[in-house]
Amino acid sequence: MELYLDTAKIEEIREIAAWGVLSGVTTNPSLVAQAGRDLKEVVVEIAEIVRGPVSAEVIATDTEGMVAEGRDLARLSGYVVIKIPMTPEGLAATRRLADEGIPVNVTLVFSAAQALLAARAGARYVSPFLGRIDDVGGDGVGLVREIAEIFEIHDLDTRIIAASVRHPRHVVEAAKAGADIATVPYKVMKQLVKHPLTDIGIARFLEDWKRATELKR
Ligand code: G3P
Repeated sequence: MELYLDTAKIEEIREIAAWGVLSGVTTNPSLVAQAGRDLKEVVVEIAEIVRGPVSAEVIATDTEGMVAEGRDLARLSGYVVIKIPMTPEGLAATRRLADEGIPVNVTLVFSAAQALLAARAGARYVSPFLGRIDDVGGDGVGLVREIAEIFEIHDLDTRIIAASVRHPRHVVEAAKAGADIATVPYKVMKQLVKHPLTDIGIARFLEDWKRATELKR
């Protein structure tokens, strides 16, 4: 499973990209607003750092508007993926953009039926929102498993991005459930790398090393 960062903050992307684990970035209007940046500017900057797929979301809700915004964003960089919401208008826009060779990430997916529709409309990616499903008492990871099973049985090559990831366990469970990608917020990415026993182990090795070199003196 590949790892994307779910953010529009350049400093977070630079930091995690330096670990060598990042395959792409996803943004949404809330994240771009939080970063206080212009969408187009920030997308170009992110693409230069990551050199992998960067999802940028349309604001329009009608098909023509989504197609126009999608074309406009796709011109910014070859790495841009157009994020389109899961609505009838969004499906129509997905089909139009996909037929023009523009990759689409259908977002706000909360059921396997929606994921199947997105795949049939030509989406390159679908984004089931794990955390938001769990928030309303559903089973976010179970949804990823169901979508993965359907795509496998029917040989659909749309890739599953586990989104709305809230904690490290979501990442592990999404990987086991068959997600192709997990898009992970910065805070969770930092939690993934940490383990108290790693810190204790490093401290103990360094203490032993210091003691041994002092004894030799
Ligand atoms: O990628 C979608 C994600 O940003 C939504 O996350 O935590 O707002 O549900 P959240």
